[in-house]
Amino acid sequence: MKEFLLQHADKDPVSFHMPGHKGEAIFRKYGYGDFLDRFVDCDVTEIPGADNLFQAEGIIRDVMERYARLYDVQNSFLLINGSSGGLIASVMASVRPAGKLIMARNCHKAVFNALTLAGAEPVYAHPEFLEEYGISGAVTVEEIERCMNENPDADAVILPSPNYYGICSDIESIAKAVHARDKVLIVDQAHGAHLKFFHKFGFGDGMPKSAEESGADLVIGSIHKTLATLTQSAILNHNTERVSKYVLEDKLQMIESTSPSYILMSFLDINAEILENHGAEAIGDWRRNLDAFYEELKEIPGLKIMSVGADGGEGDSSTTSRAGRMDMTKVNLDMGAYGIDGAALELELMKYNIFPELYAGNVLMLMTGIGNTKKHFDRTIAALKDIAWQHAADYNEERFAVDAAGGAASQPAFKAPAPGKLHPIPIHKEMVPLDEAAGRICASSLIPYPPGIPLVCPGEEITEDMISYVKALRNDGEKVMGITDQGDVVVGTKE
Ligand SMILES: Cc1ncc(COP(=O)(O)O)c(C=O)c1O
Repeated sequence: MKEFLLQHADKDPVSFHMPGHKGEAIFRKYGYGDFLDRFVDCDVTEIPGADNLFQAEGIIRDVMERYARLYDVQNSFLLINGSSGGLIASVMASVRPAGKLIMARNCHKAVFNALTLAGAEPVYAHPEFLEEYGISGAVTVEEIERCMNENPDADAVILPSPNYYGICSDIESIAKAVHARDKVLIVDQAHGAHLKFFHKFGFGDGMPKSAEESGADLVIGSIHKTLATLTQSAILNHNTERVSKYVLEDKLQMIESTSPSYILMSFLDINAEILENHGAEAIGDWRRNLDAFYEELKEIPGLKIMSVGADGGEGDSSTTSRAGRMDMTKVNLDMGAYGIDGAALELELMKYNIFPELYAGNVLMLMTGIGNTKKHFDRTIAALKDIAWQHAADYNEERFAVDAAGGAASQPAFKAPAPGKLHPIPIHKEMVPLDEAAGRICASSLIPYPPGIPLVCPGEEITEDMISYVKALRNDGEKVMGITDQGDVVVGTKE
């Protein structure tokens, strides 16, 4: 394994995937070279003076308080198994046993796991579906209202914002609606831990507000995905009287390791210090580089940037139409006009040692982070220009013209089908070959990874389209969780 990682590092890669630090440079730039050189010596356990994650009174408490100040919330908890742990603890702390959880249908698999661990019943809120791209969009306040009207006994609501592609929901309106019914709002902000800081340091023009500023009760953020800390280190922000801090703490200690890594926690500390002492510079550089990058992307004929209009519909690639809805740090490229789908574009960029996060249909998502430098963006522009030039013969101007106007001319090679009809979650289960599963009720989940958002949820009917999609993904070498080595899936037995 280490050989693979070292060989990869030797390529001088441009990382547009997690984690957000993008390599050691940012830590050295801000004076943490000493810690990088000695961190193995700092890998200790709860020795005297080292505090305890689950009874924090000393050095760990200091970091927690630092985050609470940075996010302007009542309490921040350090997470050492990613947002996944924070999501599970939040659901367990907010939903009574056998209680109902209103959850966006495009929640991450950690939330589906939380249902099992909390013994909760799901009520699915359906996000908008962006036909053109075959991906989920925002969850509207009307959809949350519908779920609450039909399920007045639900305890809590949870949704991701931003979603994997950077599309944000109107958390402010959702928070007002949820609180009007005295329910708890949990926001999975795994992909948006940075949003608060764009606004805090004055670079948030056109960017959605953070869930903390928008009134959510519990907000879970993967600091590691976009900011300067190591993979798995994240934060759970608690800003409410509706959920007890002590209950939350109790749930966290149930699901997190009793040997939390002091290295992970130290990197959370370092990230907090970078934001406190150099936040304006680091976030400012990120924003300036992004603004320049978007401008230069416009120069490449036929390259489209996925966008979402202010009304939630699909907009054009101008900054105005992105305003308030898109987290601009996720750059969603579409070179469908050249006949290049997302998968092909990823392969092309990898030839230049540029590594994107993921693709769906024609869209390829570059996940930028605090550690990306101007050099990374410049290398990418040069590579994209090169790719456009090499494929110039395949460029179809008509297709781009329709496409740029919001049409659906450049069809993705294959795109995710819409969710199937919902039935009660099966109690009696059996395994059947994927090929024979059409019309059956899914009893576990089928989850393409990444992004880790279930394609089929428990209780949903499996359709022919879903089977074809799963097969296409697997043929493309993508991972789909929920299928056995023999190619079987778990479904409800026929009555
Ligand atoms: C929307 C969403 N929520 C939660 C998670 C889990 O976050 P973590 O990797 O920090 O556990 C992910 C992971 O990619 C995600 O995409």
